[in-house]
Amino acid sequence: MRAGDMLYEGKAKQLFLTEDPGVVRVKYKDTATAFNGEKRAVLEGKGEMNNRISTFFFRYLNEHGIPNHFIDAISPLEQLVRKVDIIPLEVVVRNIAAGTLSKRTGLPEGTELRHPVVELYYKDDALGDPLINEDHVSVLQLATEEQLKEMREMALKVNDLLKQLMEQEKILLVDFKLEFGVDAEGKLLLADEISPDTCRFWDAKTGEKLDKDRFRRDLGQVVEAYREIWTRLGGKKDV
Ligand code: C5P
Repeated sequence: MRAGDMLYEGKAKQLFLTEDPGVVRVKYKDTATAFNGEKRAVLEGKGEMNNRISTFFFRYLNEHGIPNHFIDAISPLEQLVRKVDIIPLEVVVRNIAAGTLSKRTGLPEGTELRHPVVELYYKDDALGDPLINEDHVSVLQLATEEQLKEMREMALKVNDLLKQLMEQEKILLVDFKLEFGVDAEGKLLLADEISPDTCRFWDAKTGEKLDKDRFRRDLGQVVEAYREIWTRLGGKKDV
């Protein structure tokens, strides 16, 4: 494979090789999928919003000492990131009951949790990304004990930082999903994206959903909601 070749195409992003073997170019797409790919649509402008919002969050986390893959944004749709081997786990952190937590436990949507809940899901489309525990991770050899400990600590730190940041913008951080990877030196880095596709954001005053649940539940105005998040974060036009 050569520089410029597509390395991988996911549901919401494409990854391309660059001249530097340690760096990949990520291109955000306008496609939206939900329910393990069963529901699909093209939402014009979503890719740009996710690139801008994700860039903003990664820069903010960089400034606050969270090691992550982000290098720079190079266009409205593209970022350069460090090449990592993704650990096949989705690390979800929750502050307020919603989504599958409400389904699984019966806690009504909107219930404030006594403390953050960290969950692990096995990234496997064929299995439907099942919820698993640390023993499963060990048996399947998905991550080491040390990596699990580091991921949990980083996820809770990211939660504190993002919760605080969003509170200033009058937005509740309900829950979010993180992915981690390991670079060529074996260092664990926060990877993937942090955007309204991967977080639940509610307007603190009205409770209005400003995230992918608008798409999942056919509430309409999806990209408008993402743009609202971007505007509240300052809408910095620096990418
Ligand atoms: O669906 P569930 O309630 O488990 O989702 C928890 C959080 O993780 C939500 O913010 C959702 O957007 C995110 N998530 C994700 N990718 C998945 C599953 C969940 O970004 N494959």
